[in-house]
Amino acid sequence: MSTLVTGIAELVTNDPSAGAGALGIVADAAVVVADGAVAWVGPATRAPAADVRVDVGGRAVVPGFVDSHTHLVFAGDRAAEFEARMSGTRYDGGGIASTVAATREASDDALRARLRALVAETRAQGTTTVEIKSGYGLTVDDEARCLRLAAEVTPETTFLGAHVVPPEYAGRAGEYVGLVTGPMLEACAPWARWIDVFCEPGSAHAFDGDETRAVLTAGRAAGLELRVHANQLTAGPGVRLAVELGAASADHCTHLTDADVDALAGGGTVATLLPGVEFATRSPYPDARRLLAAGATVALATDCNPGSCFTSSMAFCIALAVREMRMTPAEALWAATAGGAAALRRPDVGHLGVGARADLAVLAAPSHVHLAYRPGVPLVKALALPGI
Ligand code: NIG
Ligand code: FE
Repeated sequence: MSTLVTGIAELVTNDPSAGAGALGIVADAAVVVADGAVAWVGPATRAPAADVRVDVGGRAVVPGFVDSHTHLVFAGDRAAEFEARMSGTRYDGGGIASTVAATREASDDALRARLRALVAETRAQGTTTVEIKSGYGLTVDDEARCLRLAAEVTPETTFLGAHVVPPEYAGRAGEYVGLVTGPMLEACAPWARWIDVFCEPGSAHAFDGDETRAVLTAGRAAGLELRVHANQLTAGPGVRLAVELGAASADHCTHLTDADVDALAGGGTVATLLPGVEFATRSPYPDARRLLAAGATVALATDCNPGSCFTSSMAFCIALAVREMRMTPAEALWAATAGGAAALRRPDVGHLGVGARADLAVLAAPSHVHLAYRPGVPLVKALALPGI
């Protein structure tokens, strides 16, 4: 069955061959969707016939958001930690242990219900592709079950056994890395596409450069692709390791040296910025303009998690990127869609060129600029099309 979507005041395709600029904008546009994919894009006056017609009434349509970094499998609540932070306590990753304790205690059904509610929350706000990490289990069985649950809702699952050293391994990080690269990886690899490490040598909780290299190398040998939590709290070795090892993405990129920026600009690794984290930890924002000027590919993601940033709203992250990191509205929208797709190496999402997955998000607004112009207003939702 084919569906003709009309009444699109502004269509963002992210396909420069389909329309104007990097966003490939078509005014007064129409889209034909067939078999779950985009079959035709162009001005409404030239639209072909289709089986069904959907009129969006003069709204903007954009590619569904690609949120390439979340931690949605967890139990518990850290509102008190957030409250203390707003009164001056610094974020150092130490609170992760409390989520680990709550997650280990929770039943599969409780974790699944929370996860599904959060995924529904993202979708209701225009996110159509979501990556989900483990990292709050940190035993062989708990990491494997968190990934099994994540795999029920997305193919973009990431094994983050190397999130922090759990309390029972305190002072024995080397032994814990042995567990992560051995039995835990073996149990988790069947449920994961990606492997990730929280690389932060200065932190009492996370992993140094050698440990990060060991985990990523083992993950790759087990058939997983790489991504890294890099340079969040300090300018450590994470970004350069990510580029050297061919990771798809280095995430956070808050503290970068010139060598880090050069590496990101010259390599095949996307710089994923997570400005919700700087908002919620009251920290300086990453220098997006420096990365863009150097020629790096920049993505935006939420990092939705109970500790450092508990928002599921990509639109909020776009507004932060524009207001706080001086990205243009067009750069920010591209980063939240095509950028996220690049960070997940997914050529089928993040754009609305012919052949792309039919992930359309409709805005209660005439242009994409409203995403940043009207912060906090629920303008976006994924468009449910007949037969999809
Ligand atoms: O991406 N930096 C490490 N991990 C998460 C935070 C997790 C948490 O605080 O629970 C992050 O910010
Ligand atoms: Fe994260």
